[in-house]
Amino acid sequence: GIPVIIDCDTGVDDALALLFAVRHPGLDLRAVTCVAGNTDVDGVVRNTLTVLEQAGAPDIPVARGAERPLIEPARPAPVHGVDGMGDLGLPLPGRRPVDVDAVTLLHREILASPRPVTLIPTAPLTNIALLLRTHPEVTRNIERIVFMGGAVATGNATPVAEFNVWHDPEAAAVLLTAGVPITMYGLDVFTQVVVPSADVHRLRASSEPGTRLAGELLAHRPAHPGEAPEAEEAGGLGDAGAVCAVVDPAGIGTRLLPVEVSLAPGATRGQTIVDRRPRPGEAEHHEGAREQALVDVALDVDVERFVKLYLATVERS
Ligand code: BDR
Ligand code: CA
Repeated sequence: GIPVIIDCDTGVDDALALLFAVRHPGLDLRAVTCVAGNTDVDGVVRNTLTVLEQAGAPDIPVARGAERPLIEPARPAPVHGVDGMGDLGLPLPGRRPVDVDAVTLLHREILASPRPVTLIPTAPLTNIALLLRTHPEVTRNIERIVFMGGAVATGNATPVAEFNVWHDPEAAAVLLTAGVPITMYGLDVFTQVVVPSADVHRLRASSEPGTRLAGELLAHRPAHPGEAPEAEEAGGLGDAGAVCAVVDPAGIGTRLLPVEVSLAPGATRGQTIVDRRPRPGEAEHHEGAREQALVDVALDVDVERFVKLYLATVERS
C-alpha cells in the first residue's frame, strides 16, 4: 500500500480519518503523530491511542508532539465535546505513546520508508513545520503532503480563516514553502462530504467495534461555542475526506494555484489567500516579490464517490 503518516489533533473527524486509514487495503499507515489543536496534546494522544485500539490496530506507533503553536498560546476549540472526541465515554487506552517526540518519529519513519511517504496533516501544522526546519532532508522521501486546512472562500475559526491554519499560521507558511508537492483539502470541499443518516444508523448498529465507532463519531454534531448543537449537520467525513483524496485523487478536482497565508495580526490572520485569477501571480512579478507557493487546491469533490469509498472501507472487518 501507499506509505502514509497522519499528523492529527483527534478530534472526532481525525478519528474518522484514522479508522479509514487503518482499514483501507491500499494504505500502509506507518505512524501517527499528535499535536495540540482541538484539544490539548495529551488529550489528543489519549484519543488517538483509543481509536487505534478500537480499530484493531494497536501496534501503530503514536508520538506526542507540540503542546502549542510556534508563536501563539494554544487556543483549543471545544467543538468536539469536552474530551475532543464527542464525549462518547470511550475507554482509556491500554498503552502509552512511543518514548520519542513527534518530530523524531516523523524523521525516523519518513527516512526508513522503502517508498516515499505521503504525509496527511489533519491538524494545526506545528509538528510539520518543526520537522521541516529541524530535518529538511526528509523532503527527499516525501511523495506529497495532502493537508486538511485553509479555505478558498469562507473560514470557520474566523470569517476568513480555517481552524488548522488559523491556530498556527506561521507553521502553515512553513509547510506551503516546503518545496514538495502539496494538496490543500480545504473547508470548501471538507464541509461538502456528508454521510446520509440511514448509513450512519446502520454503522451504529454494527456489532464490529471499529465500524460501530465510525457510526458513533459520524452521529456527533460539531458545535462551536455559542452555537446550538444542531447548528452543524451530523455525518460529515471532515478530515477523513483528505485521506480519501490520497486513495482516490480523482475524487477531487484541483487546480495548481499560488497560496499565501496571512500572518498579519488582525482580521485576516490565518487566512489562506488563493490566487484564482486567470493569470495568477501577475502583480507580484516585481523585484522583491514574495515567494509564492504553488499548491494543488481542491475546488470540487465528488461527494457520493467519497461517501461510498468511506463506507465500503470502514464496513470491512
Ligand atoms: C479542522 O478543525 C477541526 O475541527 C477538524 O478536525 C478539522 O481538522 C476543520 O477546520
Ligand atoms: Ca483535525
